[in-house]
Amino acid sequence: MTEGLEGRVVVVTGASSGIGEAIALHLAERGAHVVLGARGEDALREVAGRIESAGGRAVHRATDVRRREDVEALVATAREHFGGLDVMVSNAGAMPVSLMDDLRVDDWDLMIDVNLRGVLHGIAAALPVFREQGRGHFVHIASTAAYKVVPQQALYAATKTAVRVLTDGLRQELAPDLRVSLVSPGFTHTEGIGKGSDPEIAAAMIARRDEIAMPPEAVARAVAYALEQPESVDVGEIVLRSTAQA
Ligand SMILES: NC(=O)c1ccc[n+]([C@@H]2O[C@H](COP(=O)([O-])OP(=O)(O)OC[C@H]3O[C@@H](n4cnc5c(N)ncnc54)[C@H](OP(=O)(O)O)[C@@H]3O)[C@@H](O)[C@H]2O)c1
Repeated sequence: MTEGLEGRVVVVTGASSGIGEAIALHLAERGAHVVLGARGEDALREVAGRIESAGGRAVHRATDVRRREDVEALVATAREHFGGLDVMVSNAGAMPVSLMDDLRVDDWDLMIDVNLRGVLHGIAAALPVFREQGRGHFVHIASTAAYKVVPQQALYAATKTAVRVLTDGLRQELAPDLRVSLVSPGFTHTEGIGKGSDPEIAAAMIARRDEIAMPPEAVARAVAYALEQPESVDVGEIVLRSTAQA
């Protein structure tokens, strides 16, 4: 089996902006056929169009990862267009962080549904395909919040810690036939920072982002590294952060 990405079929959720967009662009540049999912179809179409104009291969499908049937349809799109599925990148996420005292219960539900249930829906959709093919690679985007919790991020960190634990258990169960990798970025320069948080918290996070964040392309390169290892090598976890982030 080739170690490069040429012709490998990769689903990326949350591919319309930020880290997911950077992953899709980077993997497509390296020859992967990418299948892009997110809720906003216009933004997805724009990213897919850029990939195609640069000579790459991309299709997209409006997808809400909170809905199991949407993620199944995204995987079906990969099989229909490109004849299989080699990699499932579960990246879609929400970060409306807040203090627990604020009781933003709808945001708690949102983060559990997108960050955790969305990853589970990716597993449920891709695992039967991987088993049938006898090959496949899960990549889950967690966060440094899965390793260190700070105030305002209790619930967000809980979802990312759950993804980390889930991913390691999955890796152990699926070896030696399938591969499972966790990629945990620190502060990354995306529009997702502060989105959905109250304006004061959002402003502070955006200021911190502009001061210390790394570019999303750094995360994309980490994902490519995990994918490009020989079949017998499973990159379990990668944690990366800007040098300015303690
Ligand atoms: N930025 C950071 O500092 C940082 C650090 C560590 C980890 N992360 C993680 O990296 C991932 C990407 O975050 P980002 O910073 O790139 O944020 P972003 O720029 O806001 O991108 C989030 C992406 O997820 C999609 N999305 C949101 N809800 C969705 C849903 N229900 N179904 C499908 N797609 C959905 C968004 O598109 P639609 O809204 O159109 O659906 C968008 O494409 C997240 O899992 C986040 O937790 C980010």
